[in-house]
Amino acid sequence: MSVASLKGRDLLSMADLSAEELQELLALAAELKAGKLPLRCQDKVLGLLFSKASTRTRVSFSVAMFQLGGQVLDLNASVTQVGRGEPTVDTARVLDRYLDVLAIRTFEQQELETFAHYAQIPVINALTDLEHPCQVLADLQTIQEEFGQLSGLTLTYVGDGNNMANSLLLGCALSGMNVRIAAPVNFEPDPAIVQQAKTIAGDRSEVLVTQDPELAAKGAQVLYTDVWASMGQENEAESRMPIFQPYQVNDQLLSLADPKAIVLHCLPAHRGEEITDAVLEGPQSRVWDEAENRLHAQKALLASILGATPLS
Ligand code: CP
Ligand code: NVA
Repeated sequence: MSVASLKGRDLLSMADLSAEELQELLALAAELKAGKLPLRCQDKVLGLLFSKASTRTRVSFSVAMFQLGGQVLDLNASVTQVGRGEPTVDTARVLDRYLDVLAIRTFEQQELETFAHYAQIPVINALTDLEHPCQVLADLQTIQEEFGQLSGLTLTYVGDGNNMANSLLLGCALSGMNVRIAAPVNFEPDPAIVQQAKTIAGDRSEVLVTQDPELAAKGAQVLYTDVWASMGQENEAESRMPIFQPYQVNDQLLSLADPKAIVLHCLPAHRGEEITDAVLEGPQSRVWDEAENRLHAQKALLASILGATPLS
């Protein structure tokens, strides 16, 4: 069955889920992946309002919705009045009258929150500059598949303290995992989110932010990285290169981790920058399973938010 307490709810931040809800969602995602529990959301419509490029999120949300028996509308800014500047507060109230659920990819977290405030339907964060919770659902599913549990494991994220770092901090803390972020000075994760993760973790697990990638990688079961310049920061890509060079995930850094460690990357990846080709294509990489799990994790999320029923 879907996670009943999520019916009708928004997912704007990873921290919108309780530890129990997250655990239940991951269990549902695993069941859906195994094909054990066909669920239906017949006639429900998901809108995708994306102001940034996307392959995985767009396609996995669409396929998930089709497999649940629902429909998807692509509300790209360039084909709606959004691109011509119609106010968010108006768009939100109009879309609310047509759709059953809306997934938004944008820049400011505040814009997502305004949508959620003005639209009564559930709103899902499909990536903002602050967070990427849907990716972290798939990441945690992948880690659980590998190790059979989450609690007590250590995930080390090396690179830019961006949306991925922020959502991983919260997702790992909620799962009882130790989380270490190694980022250059001035590129640390959001301080309020670090504090929030520490509060969630309590004395169950460790939350560490450091500038030292080797210290952070030591003994970790999961080594994670992401691009050094995110969408919207393309003009900084070149100037960031020398700053981030010591934060590359390569064989040397991986050799410091637990010998059973796996490597994750949300993708798209820049081989030779934040990760070497050898590591991305190597035996410890799980990035293709991770990408596949976007489909299962988001299907579990949609099914729960929409109150899907088992196929009779
Ligand atoms: N990982 C991820 O969100 O990929 P897309 O930008 O392709 O959706
Ligand atoms: N940090 C990256 C993640 C892409 C999935 C970005 O925001 O561009």
